[in-house]
Amino acid sequence: MTFALFSMDGLLFLLRWFHFFFGVIWIGHLYYFNFTQGPFFTETDATTKSNVVQKLLPRALWWFRWGAMVTMATGLLMLMIRGHRDGGAIFATSWGLAILTGTALGLLMWANVWFVIWPAQKVVIQSALQVASGGQPIAEAAARGVRAGVASRTNTLFSLPMLFFMGSASHLPLTFGPAPSFGALAAVIGVILLALELNALKGKLGPLTTVKGVIHMGFVLTAVLYVAMELLTK
Ligand code: HEM
Repeated sequence: MTFALFSMDGLLFLLRWFHFFFGVIWIGHLYYFNFTQGPFFTETDATTKSNVVQKLLPRALWWFRWGAMVTMATGLLMLMIRGHRDGGAIFATSWGLAILTGTALGLLMWANVWFVIWPAQKVVIQSALQVASGGQPIAEAAARGVRAGVASRTNTLFSLPMLFFMGSASHLPLTFGPAPSFGALAAVIGVILLALELNALKGKLGPLTTVKGVIHMGFVLTAVLYVAMELLTK
């Protein structure tokens, strides 16, 4: 008797399963922060908000950042196994272009979690704890909270095309024309993503301010990247 799971494909599948599980933990919390907690904070009283920041937020952020870490690690592992097993040429296929675009978005999102959002939220939580025990707020806490907010909204924006390309890689194959320009495609996608990431690090919320705005912009960004991919692979 053979078990499908006990094979190289089975191992890849197990990794993929873990990848979805931790991906759901990560992105589920991202959507909770952006779609549920953010709007709740704008209308709740200061004491409730402080309680949430002190007791709920640290727990949610634990699942959020470690979900991001394991999703990223399982994703990169699958990428390495596929590259090793199928050869580097796999990345110049329709699957490769989509998965590399999804991966670029996922890696930017992971970096925003670990190097922008989590360090900033630690300051916000510490400040709330100090105030609750009769001390002074940390001066930079408000500004750090705003920066975490822009990075979190940017991750929500990125999540729509990230999910599109992650899923389309195996399920929406593109037909290449006789003269695909992979270099131009990488440049177009690179410039768009870096400009948006720069805004996450230094800029303002703009159309990402509202939940409706970020979801709409997510669809627009997905459409722009998808059309660029179709046009530049013909
Ligand atoms: C740094 C972040 C990420 C990296 C490096 C990454 C990488 C990958 C790779 C390489 C695959 C292809 C596996 C294969 O076909 O063998 C994949 C598939 C997939 N990823 Fe990700 N991923 C990331 C984030 C996410 C997130 C946050 C989600 C959200 C749930 C996600 C959902 C998926 C799904 C659903 C597939 C399966 C596609 C399929 O088999 O049809 N990924 N990812």
